[in-house]
Amino acid sequence: MAFEKTFAMLKPGILQRRIVGDVIRRLEHKGLRIQALKLMNITPELAAQHYAEHKGKPFYDPLIEYMTSGPVIAMVLAGEHATHQLRKICGATNPDEAAPGTIRGDYSEKMNRNVIHASDSPESAAREIALFFKPEEIIEYEDEHAKWIV
Ligand code: CMP
Repeated sequence: MAFEKTFAMLKPGILQRRIVGDVIRRLEHKGLRIQALKLMNITPELAAQHYAEHKGKPFYDPLIEYMTSGPVIAMVLAGEHATHQLRKICGATNPDEAAPGTIRGDYSEKMNRNVIHASDSPESAAREIALFFKPEEIIEYEDEHAKWIV
């Protein structure tokens, strides 16, 4: 098993819906360790860099507009196979297919309002973390409970 960092972003609307605590609780209860967390507005430039792979797709422009429409919460999470674990907790990208009990399955109805972004690979995670966080903003710390979780 590989202990790794991954990246998550709670999308616009998360604060207005008052579900930040619920979503983060699920990530923590799974055992993911928060190493960085930032409430921020993202610029169109940052959104474009983050979603560069989707440029040209029909949903790209509305996606950028939505992602810059309100504050987001960006996070670095660490754990064993953290990228895989996080994506499982989030559920399928399309909330229509996301299982009940997953974040998207429980909190979203539409693909373009799917509540949370999760990196799709450790390589994407490294790229996305570097876009959102300076190295000194990522806090590594001892976790004496880790032996009970991982
Ligand atoms: P996310 O994990 O943030 O990555 C790209 C986002 O584009 C995705 O979640 C969805 O919110 C959004 N999106 C909207 N329409 C589509 C689509 N048809 N296919 C994939 N992603 C879409």
